[in-house]
Amino acid sequence: MKKLIAPSILSADFTCLEKEIRAVEQAGADYIHIDVMDGHFVPNITVGPFIIEAAKRCTNLPLDVHLMIENAELYIADFVNAGSSILTVHPEACRHLQRTLKCIKDKNVKPGVALNPATPLCAIEHILDDTEMILIMTVNPGFGGQKFISAMIPKIKMLKNMLNTAGKIIPIEVDGGIVVDNIAEVANAGGDIFVSGSGIFKTADYKKTISEMKKRINI
Ligand code: DX5
Ligand code: ZN
Repeated sequence: MKKLIAPSILSADFTCLEKEIRAVEQAGADYIHIDVMDGHFVPNITVGPFIIEAAKRCTNLPLDVHLMIENAELYIADFVNAGSSILTVHPEACRHLQRTLKCIKDKNVKPGVALNPATPLCAIEHILDDTEMILIMTVNPGFGGQKFISAMIPKIKMLKNMLNTAGKIIPIEVDGGIVVDNIAEVANAGGDIFVSGSGIFKTADYKKTISEMKKRINI
């Protein structure tokens, strides 16, 4: 499966968001990852559809929208209309996960499902037909710049095995604390899409950082 780099704009400079998005696009990003937080599911509040719509006007890259919100089903139409390419929801915050994933798919957007570090893989065992991406959180969601939880490496490997056994080809996205120095370990465990916020936006030269990340995972 193709390996992809998805910079998270959570750590970008929002006074010049357009410049930041164009800079990571130029630097070789494959997706733009946008973290939506509601102050309920996670202890932080970030952006909504308005910023997705603005980001859409800055780039042709797919917008990979990570919804860390309760009652996501109420907002799917708004995030679709804003221009999301992928919409990822958390089962911990979603009462009717299968219905929500189907609702996203019915609107011609890729549905994804994201698991907090403590959530076991069995939470998604029965909805594999309904998701087109699985995101493994390697920090507790809410903030950029946190430390990668190494205990998630075996979880990524277990997910890869689970998908192989089920005969499913679904990309595994990994999100939280990914930097140049650990990206190879994440790729070797089975990661396909690598989200990095501070690991890219807090470095001086985005192109150098993304190129080095790609080099470490042989792309
Ligand atoms: C955390 C978000 C992440 C975050 C990653 O809740 O889902 O996407 O922006 O930031 P870093 O790479 O700095 O851990
Ligand atoms: Zn995220």
